Amino acid sequence: MNDSAFHYVDGALHVEGVPAASLAEQFGTPLYVYSRDALTRAYRAYADACAGRKATVHVAVKANSNLAVLNVFERLGAGFDIVSSGELARVLAAGGKASNTVFSGVGKSAAEMREALEAGVKCFNVESIPELHALNEVAKSLGKKAPVSLRVNPDVDAKTHPYISTGLKSNKFGVAFGDARATYREARDMANLDVVGIDCHIGSQITEVSPYLDAVDKLLDLVEQIESDGMSIRHVDVGGGLGITYDDETPPDIGDFVRTLLAHFEERGHGQREVYFEPGRSLVGNAGVLLTRVEYLKPGEEKNFAIVDAAMNDLARPAMYEAFHRIVPVMERKASARLYDVVGPVCESGDWLGRDRELAVEQGDLLAILSAGAYGFVMSSNYNTRARAAEIMVDGERARVVREREEVKQLFAGESILPD
Ligand code: LLP
Repeated sequence: MNDSAFHYVDGALHVEGVPAASLAEQFGTPLYVYSRDALTRAYRAYADACAGRKATVHVAVKANSNLAVLNVFERLGAGFDIVSSGELARVLAAGGKASNTVFSGVGKSAAEMREALEAGVKCFNVESIPELHALNEVAKSLGKKAPVSLRVNPDVDAKTHPYISTGLKSNKFGVAFGDARATYREARDMANLDVVGIDCHIGSQITEVSPYLDAVDKLLDLVEQIESDGMSIRHVDVGGGLGITYDDETPPDIGDFVRTLLAHFEERGHGQREVYFEPGRSLVGNAGVLLTRVEYLKPGEEKNFAIVDAAMNDLARPAMYEAFHRIVPVMERKASARLYDVVGPVCESGDWLGRDRELAVEQGDLLAILSAGAYGFVMSSNYNTRARAAEIMVDGERARVVREREEVKQLFAGESILPD
């Protein structure tokens, strides 16, 4: 199991103190289930390693934006990293503060900038010169100064999947490293901007520390140049991206990762600099599973298929990135295992959740798809007019619905037919 909150008791999968089977009986499938304890431990691993340092954790809302999940982090003292005004609205609804929220993203609209400025976000992570101009204009129209940090593309190889690598020259993200100093000078000269920081985000599911150290080195070189141009950089935001164990990956321990990076700031003589982290996956990924029921077993000449009631619309990662998620039985069986492709009911060959999995299953059995807490529900869709799954939060012996299962009639409630 990828987190101790999910474990077997006498062959029955439990989430903390609750049998997973009873959750599926009570709330139906497909069902996202999160563990409050796992969320808390992951957050504390970051926060404890930051303690006593000028270092802050901003939870990347995009990885899991359920209000209850955000609220668990908010109660632990987290800040947030958002990429849309929709995410800002979620942070506020979950009890979070705009003043602890940084606004990232490559294409913020003027309307989003206005909302965020009015709410009083802590910093805008800006990614281009035209965006600086747009933000300056919006801030001027409101008679405010916008706090900005430039997302610089450090051109380091994060050694991860090309779709989730973001710090290379060929990516659409950030200001090119070579243009950064001049871009900072432009920002300095805009009356309604207040330069406060620098940031980067080099990718996701990164399982080594070295790309971060390379990125920090490049950012600190730049900080020294920018400060010699008369600006003061209060914080360095190192982005998110720390990977998790889906299968046999061995990412660094969260605390070791944070301590190594902070030590590197000290080694470079920047120990007093405030450091921001923007983790997503490593906080929520292994704190959630997706429960699904086997509808049919379909033996084939080349492959056996276990057709389950969850699909690519519920968990897009396998179809999108060929991502691997462990799949385990909710009730262990003594019977001998066979190889199955675990697939959903959506009419696409790409609709698979796991390939060549050794499983002892029968029709009607429940399976748990592990490590589904990050980029799971948030990337779900209504393709094939499938209502989205419910979400449950387990806290010790208790389980709460934190998002109701959608009803089909909600899916076309905003649609209408032509009058004639
Ligand atoms: N900050 C920024 C600016 C980001 O773009 C991201 C993720 C994060 C923080 C959080 O990164 P994390 O700690 O979660 O790696 N849908 C893909 C992942 C896309 C990540 C995009 N950016 C997946 O399912 O693997």
